[in-house]
Amino acid sequence: MPGRFRGQIALITGASSGIGAELARQLAAEGAVVVVTARRIERLQDLEKEICATGGSALALACDVTRSADLEAVSQKVRERYGRLDIVVANAGFGVGGSFASLSLDDFRRQLETNLFGVIATLQATLSDLTASRGCFVVMGSVAGLVAFPGTTAYGMSKAAVHSLALGLHGELAASGVGVVLLAPGYVDSEIRQVDKNGSHRTDWHDPVPRWVRMRTPVAVGKMVRAIHRRKRLQVITFHGRLVALAGRYFPGTLAWLARRTVAKSRARRENDDR
Ligand SMILES: NC(=O)c1ccc[n+]([C@@H]2O[C@H](COP(=O)([O-])OP(=O)(O)OC[C@H]3O[C@@H](n4cnc5c(N)ncnc54)[C@H](OP(=O)(O)O)[C@@H]3O)[C@@H](O)[C@H]2O)c1
Repeated sequence: MPGRFRGQIALITGASSGIGAELARQLAAEGAVVVVTARRIERLQDLEKEICATGGSALALACDVTRSADLEAVSQKVRERYGRLDIVVANAGFGVGGSFASLSLDDFRRQLETNLFGVIATLQATLSDLTASRGCFVVMGSVAGLVAFPGTTAYGMSKAAVHSLALGLHGELAASGVGVVLLAPGYVDSEIRQVDKNGSHRTDWHDPVPRWVRMRTPVAVGKMVRAIHRRKRLQVITFHGRLVALAGRYFPGTLAWLARRTVAKSRARRENDDR
């Protein structure tokens, strides 16, 4: 397929839904061979079929990012099958929400296990391949990694940590020719707000974020694909996300006051959800 990523091999974690699945579609449409990974293999196989049916190339592989052995096995399979790896998107993640008082130490550990250590393990399993191809490592951060909100300490700290990781790696890996792109989306349509703090899918949950605030997945991912192509150091996505990031930088006191009033109030209303 012709396109900006023609002939490149891209590995995406957390590709069974939401942003990861759409990244796979768009990178494949731009000529990349996409290796789609996550835990729900049936969904990945459906995605593989969908991409191949539209003339793209995809390979579905089961992989839990909290298991280094899974990531090593996937990397080995990619090496054997394609002989190279150009783009790795560390996208897998979920949110442990709730007030600090409602969360146990295990809740925090579970959050970091996927959202932070999963990203580190993904790079450890693929760094030699990216160095060989002078490829690109993409980290899925969040506006929550730029600005801290009440009621989201576990998720926010996991994202702040990967932001720091990505920005540090950007300079550290530059000499070896490996690009590092940090993506920081605000609210985007996906299944993330239908997953509870234990990582279980709750299809009966409705997304509490109003429809008009959420960016449509294909639109958000289109901006991500452009940032990856340009190897941008940091790309904040969604209008509200950019606004919040700016407010966090220039008016932190006002933003903290607003966040206390609005976020804490709505979180308190949903405390009984036991997210
Ligand atoms: N949507 C938003 O508003 C938003 C905003 C900012 C940042 N983000 C970030 O975007 C990323 C993608 O989330 P999304 O919004 O697209 O949510 P989503 O639709 O729930 O997708 C999350 C993906 O992560 C995978 N995943 C979760 N735990 C995993 C594990 N241990 N190993 C492997 N895969 C795992 C899930 O697949 P399986 O369950 O099949 O494993 C799924 O494919 C996350 O890092 C999230 O923090 C999202």
